[in-house]
Amino acid sequence: MEMDQLVALCKRRGFLFPSSDIYGGFQGFWDYGPLGVELKRNVREAWWRDMVTGHNELDVSAGAPAAYEMTGLDCAIIMHPQVWRCSGHYDLFHDYMVDCRESKKRYRHDQVYGRWLTCKGQRIFVASDVGGNEGLELTQHKAMKFFNLRGKDADELAWDGSLVLLTSVKDFSQVLGPDAKTLGTLTEPREFNLMFKTVVGALGGAEDAAFLRPETAQGIFVNFKNVCDSTRVRVPFGIAQIGKSFRNEITPRNFTFRSREFEQMEIEFFCHPGSSPQWYQYWRQRRYQWYLNLGLASSRLRLRDHEKDELSHYSCGTADIEYAFPFLPAGEFGELEGVAHRGDFDLRSHMEGKLVRQGDQLVVELDGNGKPRHRGSGKDLSYFDEQTKERFIPHVIEPSAGADRATLAFLCEAYQEDEAPDENGKPTKRLFLKLHPRLAPIKAAVFPLVKKDGMPEVAREIYKALKPHMTVFYDEKGAVGRRYRRQDEVGTPFCITVDSHTLQDGTVTIRDRDTLRQWRVSKEECLAELKTRLTA
Ligand code: GAP
Repeated sequence: MEMDQLVALCKRRGFLFPSSDIYGGFQGFWDYGPLGVELKRNVREAWWRDMVTGHNELDVSAGAPAAYEMTGLDCAIIMHPQVWRCSGHYDLFHDYMVDCRESKKRYRHDQVYGRWLTCKGQRIFVASDVGGNEGLELTQHKAMKFFNLRGKDADELAWDGSLVLLTSVKDFSQVLGPDAKTLGTLTEPREFNLMFKTVVGALGGAEDAAFLRPETAQGIFVNFKNVCDSTRVRVPFGIAQIGKSFRNEITPRNFTFRSREFEQMEIEFFCHPGSSPQWYQYWRQRRYQWYLNLGLASSRLRLRDHEKDELSHYSCGTADIEYAFPFLPAGEFGELEGVAHRGDFDLRSHMEGKLVRQGDQLVVELDGNGKPRHRGSGKDLSYFDEQTKERFIPHVIEPSAGADRATLAFLCEAYQEDEAPDENGKPTKRLFLKLHPRLAPIKAAVFPLVKKDGMPEVAREIYKALKPHMTVFYDEKGAVGRRYRRQDEVGTPFCITVDSHTLQDGTVTIRDRDTLRQWRVSKEECLAELKTRLTA
């Protein structure tokens, strides 16, 4: 599947639109349309149900070291600015960017590729902002143009190895930027904090600056004490939150994959330090399995443990759940979710102040006067276990997923083409979304075969009976084959058709989106039949 096909389908059928479309869009922002909003809600609801409300705290879940509780929160997007100072986001949440003086374009330093070559006695680095085969083709094309060569002279280009990242290049004077015609137009890399700044209150002085949260996690950490004091949860337990996060990404791209406004589904799981390695293993597996259960193919999904040098300074282990998105070069995967063992870093930071690593220890970072660089809340965030009479700072396991990335992966996986007979029995190409029934925006469509002979009346009755239980769609316009295809295209798992037999024996046909099989049930049994099949 080409990504363009999915993007076109999403716009045509109302899943996703560029934000502010009539003004030409706004880079890094997307709007979910009438079907997209249902799909994304279903993703969020499946996550909340499977992780929070459906979790049985009385039993030990398969693979878990012990029984545990789950609860939820919904925190403000704008929090006290000190939160971001202590969490490290204020000092450390940045990317490096390079600007091109000629094209005026901006790139993320670690996302520019290129290759060295020598031609006509000159050695240059030809850059591209895409990797893979496309990057190889682009750099070849750019080099030919730069050296004024014709196709037949291509072997005058002596390439020195394949694509490497711009981060490996020290001196930019011989770099031909991705959109430049001359050498040496890229600036030195500069730090760029990804947090969106805003101003709170009418006066708007420097001290009123605040940030839109770049992650939902911090709202959970700063409410740890509130949750412990107001409920009867006992460690081990998890707090879940779904909500918007904002990052001023330098190069938002690949449809919704890297947006500037997106939604996260995060769990902070608090446990005893002694059992945290087992809990980390449990959550790694549990979250990986969640995507498989909802239809992602195991051949396109992987669980990748971070190398030691990739780990954050506080993390004792992180694994990414990654999906082979179709916009990536073959063999490459993109992050869907990170599962991190964060130790006691977060609770301690909000107690004591921003921490830094010193040898094996995390210590409060001090300023020139020996005072904490960023002061913590001073509140005691330790936990007292009434049963063991032990006081400790819980360790945290954090499964952090993106609702938009998950939705995109489910859409990519679902996009299918096959051949099916059209209304004249002629085999024709069929496009359908093989979405898991839990995720499908519409669960069933109801059609009268024709708009006469009392069929619409019966179909409306069935529609009315189903409506309180699930998202259903009624359609009586056009040939029935066309109506089936319109539903296939948006992933509706079942279509119910009222035909001439219905008027005689009270039965209707139900058609399965994936197998195209049709069978008859009595019209009164439609609801029970759909409920069984939707939860199978
Ligand atoms: N609290 C940890 C945290 O925020 P992260 O890896 O930066 O970790 C977690 O983000 C998840 O949020 C990612 O795996 C991804 O699914 C989603 N995400 C992060 N940045 C995103 C962006 N710019 N656009 C869409 N989703 C994003």
